[in-house]
Amino acid sequence: MKRVGFIGWRGMVGSVLMERMKAENDFSQMESYFFSTSQTGEAAPQIINAHDKLLSAMDSKELAKMDILVSCQGGDYTTEMFPLLRKEGWNGIWIDAASTLRMKDDSVIVLDPVNRDFIQESLHKGMKNFVGGNCTVSLLLIALHGLFKENLIEWVSSMTYQAASGAGAKNMIELLDQMKSVGTAFAAQPAAGALELEKQMTTLMNSSEFPTTNFGHPLALNVLPWIDSEMPSGQSKEEWKAQVEANKILQTKSIIPIDGTCVRVGALRCHSQGLTIKLKKSAHLSTVEELIRNANPWVKLVSNNKPETLKELTPGAVSGKMHVPIGRLRQMTLGEEYFNAFTIGDQLLWGAAEPLRCVLKQVLQS
Ligand code: HSE
Repeated sequence: MKRVGFIGWRGMVGSVLMERMKAENDFSQMESYFFSTSQTGEAAPQIINAHDKLLSAMDSKELAKMDILVSCQGGDYTTEMFPLLRKEGWNGIWIDAASTLRMKDDSVIVLDPVNRDFIQESLHKGMKNFVGGNCTVSLLLIALHGLFKENLIEWVSSMTYQAASGAGAKNMIELLDQMKSVGTAFAAQPAAGALELEKQMTTLMNSSEFPTTNFGHPLALNVLPWIDSEMPSGQSKEEWKAQVEANKILQTKSIIPIDGTCVRVGALRCHSQGLTIKLKKSAHLSTVEELIRNANPWVKLVSNNKPETLKELTPGAVSGKMHVPIGRLRQMTLGEEYFNAFTIGDQLLWGAAEPLRCVLKQVLQS
């Protein structure tokens, strides 16, 4: 059995990966070793075929004993340890959730089912670095897989509504702290009218009392239309990733433009995206629906009516779920080739952990 080392398995993405691997009995297919940056020598999680003690995640000699390393530790760790391991001659398979290596020529961005065949080919060619894509990109591609497969898309504009979890566990808790602060202030004013309350809450959220250490700004009662750093193009880095990563995953011969505005909203762990899709030629709505519906086992087409949309196409309904719903699908008044859609996915499942789990299985079977 292959020796697989896990790093960053206690963080948010790592924990979701562990849950999914346990649920699917994946650990029976490997010898697993758990690495830690702070608790070397302590007991490892009790998992079938797992080494019983935690090993040091900073010890390249221990890491190099693994056939496969799976890192959910984050970009700084990858930047420090990955080049060192390769320099010291480790030739194993590196599977990573961080963005650090995504756009490198010797890395494959993984998204089974969308590029399963390409992953397989890359493994046969001896590629060693496999990296999960940005969450909004992976979720967009799963939702629109059917249209990309048929090479029908000329361009997509994606306006995102991204959950706090995408910024990290501390940010998720900060959002709840902000909500608590609002709730407490509201509870102290039971008789105030709506306009008076709005004034008080706006003053509160803009005051230094409001907890904003992680986001730097209020997210509760607010939206933040900038995610990640600034790019020379005027895009945020999150916006820039959409086109470059999606085209790399799809291995397109000519670039399919994908662009829009990425916005942080007060959802917990589901990213939503409002899409304008320009097709290369006009198509009937029923054809577009059919292609989307049948593309892969995880996409779920939600009928474009109010009750089903509000029941099934919200972050609250999709949180913790494996399926990726897409709805609000309709031809737009802009022209016959223009379609509107809205899609949501769990940012920690198909947005992060699941593509890693799938590629690990593929590597183990190769
Ligand atoms: N960059 C994403 C976000 C999360 O901030 O929501 C991970 O891809």
